[in-house]
Amino acid sequence: MTDKRNILIQLDPDAQASTFDRVVAVDAGAEVIFSHHSVTPDQVEPLVHGAIFTRGQEDLRHTAIFIGGTDVTQGEALLRRLLATFFGPMRVSVMLDANGANTTAAAAVIAAKKHTPLEGATALVLGGTGPVGQRVAMLLGKEGATVRLASRSAQRAKDTAAQVNQTLGHPRVTGVEAYNHDNTAQALKGVSLLVAAGAAGVKLLSQEQLTGAGSIKAAIDLNAVPPAGIEGIDVMDKAKERHGIVCYGAIGVGGLKMKIHKAAIRSLFESNDKTLDAEAIYAIGQTL
Ligand SMILES: NC(=O)c1ccc[n+]([C@@H]2O[C@H](COP(=O)([O-])OP(=O)(O)OC[C@H]3O[C@@H](n4cnc5c(N)ncnc54)[C@H](OP(=O)(O)O)[C@@H]3O)[C@@H](O)[C@H]2O)c1
Repeated sequence: MTDKRNILIQLDPDAQASTFDRVVAVDAGAEVIFSHHSVTPDQVEPLVHGAIFTRGQEDLRHTAIFIGGTDVTQGEALLRRLLATFFGPMRVSVMLDANGANTTAAAAVIAAKKHTPLEGATALVLGGTGPVGQRVAMLLGKEGATVRLASRSAQRAKDTAAQVNQTLGHPRVTGVEAYNHDNTAQALKGVSLLVAAGAAGVKLLSQEQLTGAGSIKAAIDLNAVPPAGIEGIDVMDKAKERHGIVCYGAIGVGGLKMKIHKAAIRSLFESNDKTLDAEAIYAIGQTL
Protein backbone atom coordinates (compact mmCIF):
# COMPACT_ATOMS: atom_id res chain seq x y z
CA MET A 1 0.00 0.00 0.00
CA THR A 2 1.20 3.49 -0.80
CA ASP A 3 -0.27 6.86 0.01
CA LYS A 4 1.58 8.66 -2.77
CA ARG A 5 -0.42 11.12 -4.84
CA ASN A 6 -0.40 10.89 -8.64
CA ILE A 7 1.78 13.68 -10.01
CA LEU A 8 1.70 14.62 -13.69
CA ILE A 9 4.65 16.65 -14.93
CA GLN A 10 3.58 18.68 -17.96
CA LEU A 11 6.37 19.57 -20.38
CA ASP A 12 5.27 22.17 -22.90
CA PRO A 13 7.54 23.86 -25.45
CA ASP A 14 5.10 26.79 -25.83
CA ALA A 15 5.46 30.11 -24.01
CA GLN A 16 2.44 29.19 -21.88
CA ALA A 17 1.73 25.64 -20.76
CA SER A 18 -1.56 24.48 -22.27
CA THR A 19 -4.61 25.05 -20.07
CA PHE A 20 -6.48 22.44 -22.13
CA ASP A 21 -3.91 19.77 -21.28
CA ARG A 22 -4.09 20.66 -17.58
CA VAL A 23 -7.87 20.54 -17.43
CA VAL A 24 -7.93 17.12 -19.12
CA ALA A 25 -5.26 15.89 -16.71
CA VAL A 26 -7.34 16.95 -13.70
CA ASP A 27 -10.46 15.34 -15.18
CA ALA A 28 -8.47 12.15 -15.76
CA GLY A 29 -7.48 11.96 -12.11
CA ALA A 30 -4.00 13.51 -11.94
CA GLU A 31 -3.89 14.83 -8.38
CA VAL A 32 -1.02 17.27 -8.70
CA ILE A 33 0.26 18.86 -11.91
CA PHE A 34 3.68 20.46 -12.29
CA SER A 35 3.52 22.61 -15.42
CA HIS A 36 6.69 23.65 -17.23
CA HIS A 37 6.53 25.96 -20.23
CA SER A 38 9.07 27.00 -22.90
CA VAL A 39 10.80 23.64 -22.36
CA THR A 40 13.67 22.81 -24.70
CA PRO A 41 15.40 19.42 -25.06
CA ASP A 42 18.52 20.57 -23.18
CA GLN A 43 16.35 21.31 -20.11
CA VAL A 44 14.79 17.85 -20.00
CA GLU A 45 17.48 15.97 -18.08
CA PRO A 46 17.17 17.77 -14.69
CA LEU A 47 13.38 17.59 -14.96
CA VAL A 48 13.56 13.83 -15.51
CA HIS A 49 16.07 13.37 -12.70
CA GLY A 50 13.70 15.22 -10.40
CA ALA A 51 10.98 12.75 -11.37
CA ILE A 52 12.96 9.51 -11.06
CA PHE A 53 15.28 10.11 -8.09
CA THR A 54 12.79 11.47 -5.58
CA ARG A 55 10.40 8.66 -4.77
CA GLY A 56 11.33 5.02 -4.22
CA GLN A 57 11.23 2.65 -7.20
CA GLU A 58 7.95 1.07 -6.06
CA ASP A 59 6.33 4.52 -6.17
CA LEU A 60 7.61 5.60 -9.60
CA ARG A 61 4.25 4.77 -11.14
CA HIS A 62 2.72 7.62 -9.19
CA THR A 63 4.74 10.13 -11.21
CA ALA A 64 4.25 10.51 -14.98
CA ILE A 65 5.18 12.96 -17.71
CA PHE A 66 2.92 14.50 -20.36
CA ILE A 67 4.44 16.25 -23.38
CA GLY A 68 2.03 18.66 -25.02
CA GLY A 69 2.15 22.08 -26.66
CA THR A 70 1.27 23.04 -30.18
CA ASP A 71 4.45 22.07 -32.02
CA VAL A 72 4.57 18.34 -32.69
CA THR A 73 8.18 18.39 -33.93
CA GLN A 74 9.33 20.05 -30.71
CA GLY A 75 7.25 17.60 -28.69
CA GLU A 76 8.92 14.69 -30.47
CA ALA A 77 12.35 16.18 -29.72
CA LEU A 78 11.45 16.43 -26.01
CA LEU A 79 10.28 12.80 -26.02
CA ARG A 80 13.52 11.58 -27.63
CA ARG A 81 15.60 13.41 -25.02
CA LEU A 82 13.43 12.18 -22.22
CA LEU A 83 13.66 8.51 -23.26
CA ALA A 84 17.44 8.88 -23.60
CA THR A 85 17.61 10.16 -20.01
CA PHE A 86 15.78 7.19 -18.48
CA PHE A 87 17.92 4.17 -17.63
CA GLY A 88 16.84 0.63 -16.83
CA PRO A 89 13.89 0.61 -14.42
CA MET A 90 14.67 4.22 -13.45
CA ARG A 91 11.94 5.81 -15.49
CA VAL A 92 8.37 7.02 -15.31
CA SER A 93 5.56 6.61 -17.81
CA VAL A 94 5.26 9.25 -20.51
CA MET A 95 2.64 10.35 -23.01
CA LEU A 96 3.16 12.50 -26.10
CA ASP A 97 0.13 14.33 -27.44
CA ALA A 98 1.50 17.57 -28.82
CA ASN A 99 -1.30 19.49 -30.56
CA GLY A 100 -3.61 16.57 -29.87
CA ALA A 101 -2.07 14.76 -32.85
CA ASN A 102 -1.92 11.27 -31.35
CA THR A 103 -5.35 11.26 -29.70
CA THR A 104 -7.00 12.85 -32.76
CA ALA A 105 -5.48 10.36 -35.20
CA ALA A 106 -6.39 7.45 -32.92
CA ALA A 107 -9.99 8.66 -32.60
CA ALA A 108 -10.33 9.12 -36.38
CA VAL A 109 -9.10 5.61 -37.17
CA ILE A 110 -11.21 4.00 -34.43
CA ALA A 111 -14.29 5.87 -35.67
CA ALA A 112 -13.59 4.70 -39.23
CA LYS A 113 -13.10 1.10 -38.12
CA LYS A 114 -16.62 1.04 -36.67
CA HIS A 115 -18.07 1.48 -40.15
CA THR A 116 -15.73 -0.05 -42.68
CA PRO A 117 -13.17 -2.85 -42.52
CA LEU A 118 -9.66 -1.44 -42.60
CA GLU A 119 -7.82 -4.65 -43.53
CA GLY A 120 -7.51 -4.55 -47.32
CA ALA A 121 -9.28 -1.17 -47.60
CA THR A 122 -8.03 1.58 -49.87
CA ALA A 123 -7.84 4.81 -47.86
CA LEU A 124 -7.03 8.35 -48.87
CA VAL A 125 -5.65 10.82 -46.32
CA LEU A 126 -5.94 14.40 -47.57
CA GLY A 127 -3.54 16.81 -45.85
CA GLY A 128 -1.54 13.69 -45.06
CA THR A 129 1.80 15.46 -44.56
CA GLY A 130 0.74 17.15 -41.29
CA PRO A 131 1.29 15.52 -37.89
CA VAL A 132 -2.29 14.24 -37.68
CA GLY A 133 -2.38 12.96 -41.27
CA GLN A 134 0.92 11.11 -40.88
CA ARG A 135 -0.37 9.35 -37.79
CA VAL A 136 -3.69 8.49 -39.42
CA ALA A 137 -1.80 7.01 -42.38
CA MET A 138 0.47 5.02 -40.07
CA LEU A 139 -2.42 3.61 -37.99
CA LEU A 140 -4.40 2.72 -41.12
CA GLY A 141 -1.30 1.01 -42.54
CA LYS A 142 -0.91 -0.96 -39.29
CA GLU A 143 -4.51 -2.10 -39.69
CA GLY A 144 -3.69 -3.48 -43.13
CA ALA A 145 -5.14 -0.72 -45.31
CA THR A 146 -3.50 0.44 -48.49
CA VAL A 147 -3.05 4.15 -47.90
CA ARG A 148 -2.72 7.09 -50.26
CA LEU A 149 -1.17 10.03 -48.46
CA ALA A 150 -2.00 13.26 -50.27
CA SER A 151 -0.27 16.61 -50.39
CA ARG A 152 -0.24 19.64 -52.67
CA SER A 153 3.33 18.66 -53.43
CA ALA A 154 4.23 15.31 -55.02
CA GLN A 155 7.66 15.45 -53.40
CA ARG A 156 6.33 16.14 -49.89
CA ALA A 157 3.80 13.33 -50.32
CA LYS A 158 6.51 10.92 -51.43
CA ASP A 159 8.93 11.88 -48.65
CA THR A 160 6.26 11.70 -45.93
CA ALA A 161 4.96 8.36 -47.22
CA ALA A 162 8.53 7.00 -47.11
CA GLN A 163 8.88 8.11 -43.46
CA VAL A 164 5.57 6.49 -42.52
CA ASN A 165 6.54 3.27 -44.32
CA GLN A 166 9.80 3.23 -42.40
CA THR A 167 7.84 3.38 -39.14
CA LEU A 168 5.51 0.64 -40.40
CA GLY A 169 8.23 -1.60 -41.77
CA HIS A 170 5.98 -2.27 -44.81
CA PRO A 171 5.39 -0.21 -47.96
CA ARG A 172 1.67 0.33 -47.31
CA VAL A 173 1.59 4.07 -47.90
CA THR A 174 1.98 5.82 -51.25
CA GLY A 175 2.38 9.56 -51.63
CA VAL A 176 -0.03 11.18 -54.08
CA GLU A 177 -0.50 14.71 -55.34
CA ALA A 178 -3.92 16.30 -54.76
CA TYR A 179 -4.25 20.02 -55.31
CA ASN A 180 -6.80 20.34 -58.11
CA HIS A 181 -9.98 18.66 -59.37
CA ASP A 182 -8.27 16.20 -61.68
CA ASN A 183 -5.47 14.90 -59.47
CA THR A 184 -7.84 14.75 -56.48
CA ALA A 185 -10.28 12.70 -58.59
CA GLN A 186 -7.40 10.39 -59.50
CA ALA A 187 -6.45 10.03 -55.82
CA LEU A 188 -10.07 9.19 -54.94
CA LYS A 189 -10.40 6.29 -57.39
CA GLY A 190 -11.51 3.11 -55.60
CA VAL A 191 -11.20 4.67 -52.14
CA SER A 192 -13.50 3.28 -49.44
CA LEU A 193 -12.25 5.45 -46.57
CA LEU A 194 -11.48 9.15 -46.80
CA VAL A 195 -9.87 11.14 -43.99
CA ALA A 196 -9.30 14.89 -44.39
CA ALA A 197 -6.49 16.05 -42.11
CA GLY A 198 -5.74 19.34 -43.81
CA ALA A 199 -4.89 22.59 -42.04
CA ALA A 200 -7.63 24.35 -40.08
CA GLY A 201 -10.05 26.35 -42.24
CA VAL A 202 -8.93 24.86 -45.58
CA LYS A 203 -11.43 23.20 -47.92
CA LEU A 204 -9.80 20.20 -49.60
CA LEU A 205 -12.74 18.51 -51.31
CA SER A 206 -16.02 19.60 -52.86
CA GLN A 207 -19.30 17.86 -52.07
CA GLU A 208 -19.57 16.91 -55.72
CA GLN A 209 -16.25 15.06 -55.56
CA LEU A 210 -17.20 13.36 -52.30
CA THR A 211 -20.46 11.98 -53.61
CA GLY A 212 -19.23 11.50 -57.16
CA ALA A 213 -16.37 9.17 -56.19
CA GLY A 214 -18.85 6.30 -55.85
CA SER A 215 -16.75 3.97 -53.70
CA ILE A 216 -16.49 5.91 -50.42
CA LYS A 217 -18.10 4.19 -47.42
CA ALA A 218 -16.85 6.46 -44.64
CA ALA A 219 -15.53 10.03 -44.65
CA ILE A 220 -13.97 11.88 -41.72
CA ASP A 221 -13.15 15.58 -41.69
CA LEU A 222 -10.85 16.61 -38.82
CA ASN A 223 -10.93 20.33 -39.54
CA ALA A 224 -13.14 22.14 -37.02
CA VAL A 225 -12.67 25.65 -38.47
CA PRO A 226 -15.00 26.78 -41.28
CA PRO A 227 -15.02 26.19 -44.16
CA ALA A 228 -15.16 22.40 -43.75
CA GLY A 229 -12.26 20.36 -45.12
CA ILE A 230 -14.81 18.17 -46.92
CA GLU A 231 -17.72 20.22 -48.20
CA GLY A 232 -21.06 18.86 -47.04
CA ILE A 233 -19.77 17.28 -43.84
CA ASP A 234 -20.96 19.15 -40.77
CA VAL A 235 -18.48 19.64 -37.94
CA MET A 236 -20.99 17.95 -35.57
CA ASP A 237 -21.56 14.89 -37.78
CA LYS A 238 -21.11 11.67 -35.83
CA ALA A 239 -21.76 8.58 -37.91
CA LYS A 240 -24.25 10.67 -39.91
CA GLU A 241 -25.21 9.07 -43.21
CA ARG A 242 -25.02 11.46 -46.14
CA HIS A 243 -25.54 10.20 -49.70
CA GLY A 244 -24.78 6.65 -48.52
CA ILE A 245 -21.51 7.70 -46.84
CA VAL A 246 -21.02 7.52 -43.06
CA CYS A 247 -19.68 10.95 -42.12
CA TYR A 248 -17.85 12.38 -39.13
CA GLY A 249 -16.94 16.01 -38.52
CA ALA A 250 -14.20 17.22 -36.16
CA ILE A 251 -16.48 17.64 -33.16
CA GLY A 252 -18.18 14.33 -33.97
CA VAL A 253 -14.77 12.66 -33.54
CA GLY A 254 -13.88 14.96 -30.63
CA GLY A 255 -15.90 13.10 -27.96
CA LEU A 256 -13.96 9.90 -28.60
CA LYS A 257 -10.69 11.86 -28.76
CA MET A 258 -11.35 13.26 -25.27
CA LYS A 259 -12.22 9.82 -23.91
CA ILE A 260 -8.98 8.42 -25.34
CA HIS A 261 -6.95 11.31 -23.92
CA LYS A 262 -8.34 10.78 -20.40
CA ALA A 263 -7.96 6.99 -20.53
CA ALA A 264 -4.35 7.40 -21.65
CA ILE A 265 -3.58 9.78 -18.76
CA ARG A 266 -5.19 7.34 -16.31
CA SER A 267 -3.13 4.46 -17.70
CA LEU A 268 0.11 6.39 -17.10
CA PHE A 269 -0.31 5.77 -13.36
CA GLU A 270 -0.75 1.98 -13.72
CA SER A 271 2.97 1.33 -14.11
CA ASN A 272 6.17 3.32 -14.62
CA ASP A 273 7.18 1.79 -17.96
CA LYS A 274 4.70 3.14 -20.50
CA THR A 275 5.59 5.26 -23.51
CA LEU A 276 2.30 6.42 -24.99
CA ASP A 277 2.86 7.46 -28.60
CA ALA A 278 0.37 7.17 -31.49
CA GLU A 279 0.28 3.37 -31.54
CA ALA A 280 0.00 2.88 -27.78
CA ILE A 281 -2.69 5.56 -27.57
CA TYR A 282 -4.57 3.88 -30.41
CA ALA A 283 -4.38 0.56 -28.52
CA ILE A 284 -5.87 2.24 -25.43
CA GLY A 285 -8.62 3.79 -27.58
CA GLN A 286 -9.57 0.37 -28.91
CA THR A 287 -10.32 -0.86 -25.42
CA LEU A 288 -12.90 1.87 -24.73
N1 LIG B 1 -10.23 17.95 -32.86
C1 LIG B 1 -9.01 18.12 -32.36
O1 LIG B 1 -8.83 18.06 -31.15
C2 LIG B 1 -7.86 18.33 -33.27
C3 LIG B 1 -6.58 18.14 -32.78
C4 LIG B 1 -5.52 18.29 -33.66
C5 LIG B 1 -5.76 18.68 -34.97
N2 LIG B 1 -7.02 18.89 -35.39
C6 LIG B 1 -7.30 19.29 -36.76
O2 LIG B 1 -6.81 18.26 -37.61
C7 LIG B 1 -6.34 18.81 -38.83
C8 LIG B 1 -4.91 18.35 -39.07
O3 LIG B 1 -4.04 18.84 -38.07
P1 LIG B 1 -2.49 19.06 -38.36
O4 LIG B 1 -1.91 19.72 -37.18
O5 LIG B 1 -1.89 17.79 -38.87
O6 LIG B 1 -2.62 20.10 -39.58
P2 LIG B 1 -1.52 21.01 -40.30
O7 LIG B 1 -0.16 20.48 -40.04
O8 LIG B 1 -1.78 22.43 -39.95
O9 LIG B 1 -1.92 20.83 -41.84
C9 LIG B 1 -1.95 19.56 -42.45
C10 LIG B 1 -1.62 19.67 -43.92
O10 LIG B 1 -2.55 20.52 -44.58
C11 LIG B 1 -1.96 20.99 -45.79
N3 LIG B 1 -2.27 22.41 -45.99
C12 LIG B 1 -1.85 23.47 -45.27
N4 LIG B 1 -2.34 24.60 -45.77
C13 LIG B 1 -3.08 24.27 -46.86
C14 LIG B 1 -3.81 25.00 -47.81
N5 LIG B 1 -3.91 26.35 -47.74
N6 LIG B 1 -4.44 24.33 -48.79
C15 LIG B 1 -4.38 22.97 -48.85
N7 LIG B 1 -3.68 22.22 -47.98
C16 LIG B 1 -3.04 22.86 -47.00
C17 LIG B 1 -0.45 20.81 -45.63
O11 LIG B 1 -0.03 19.78 -46.53
P3 LIG B 1 0.78 20.09 -47.87
O12 LIG B 1 1.47 21.41 -47.70
O13 LIG B 1 1.75 18.94 -47.92
O14 LIG B 1 -0.24 20.07 -48.93
C18 LIG B 1 -0.28 20.35 -44.20
O15 LIG B 1 0.79 19.44 -44.01
C19 LIG B 1 -6.45 20.34 -38.66
O16 LIG B 1 -7.61 20.80 -39.31
C20 LIG B 1 -6.54 20.54 -37.17
O17 LIG B 1 -7.22 21.72 -36.81
C21 LIG B 1 -8.08 18.69 -34.58
